[in-house]
Amino acid sequence: MNNSLIYEQKIIKYSRKELIELVKKAVSTSRFEHILRVEAMALRLAKSYQVNLEKASIAALVHDYAKERIDQDFIDEIMSKKLDPKLLNANNAIWHGVVGAELIKDELEVWDEDILNAVRHHTTGSPEMSMLEQIIFMADYIEEGRNFNGVDEARQLTFNNLQDGVRFQIKQTIQYLIERSKNIYPSAIDTYNAWVAK
Ligand SMILES: [Fe+2]
Ligand SMILES: [Fe+2]
Repeated sequence: MNNSLIYEQKIIKYSRKELIELVKKAVSTSRFEHILRVEAMALRLAKSYQVNLEKASIAALVHDYAKERIDQDFIDEIMSKKLDPKLLNANNAIWHGVVGAELIKDELEVWDEDILNAVRHHTTGSPEMSMLEQIIFMADYIEEGRNFNGVDEARQLTFNNLQDGVRFQIKQTIQYLIERSKNIYPSAIDTYNAWVAK
């Protein structure tokens, strides 16, 4: 199904095939394969929730475009675009989404704000997420290569009700981090408070 998708809406200047080639050059083979699986899952979700398929495909294909960049690339981008200086204290996990969106604009000429927000928010989620953002957030979590405890439940929930899937992921992730005494990004806590906390 995903191989037959042809971009017709002029959301970006590239064909799907060209975009795939550009992404392939930017990441390792294993990450590239993850990206293709995220696209396949994002397209399934977009179909079932009637979200624009081309946007879902583009957002999925670019979501980890910047993941393997060196730290200095992100720091340079934060400085030259005068992004929030607090971002300088973050690391790759946050940068590849929030700052990655800027690199995607510069290098791939993706300008659609919904797509860019889906990239920005795919790691920690966000208090407010569009359907497209929710789809990319979930597709990254439940793509067919994932096999953590509870992934089947996550998939089932997500296809039943997208928002339930989002809540499940946020809660599981925070729980996982707490159990291992790991650092939680403040933006992930904001997401938790907006989506899960009663
Ligand atoms: Fe990512
Ligand atoms: Fe990813």
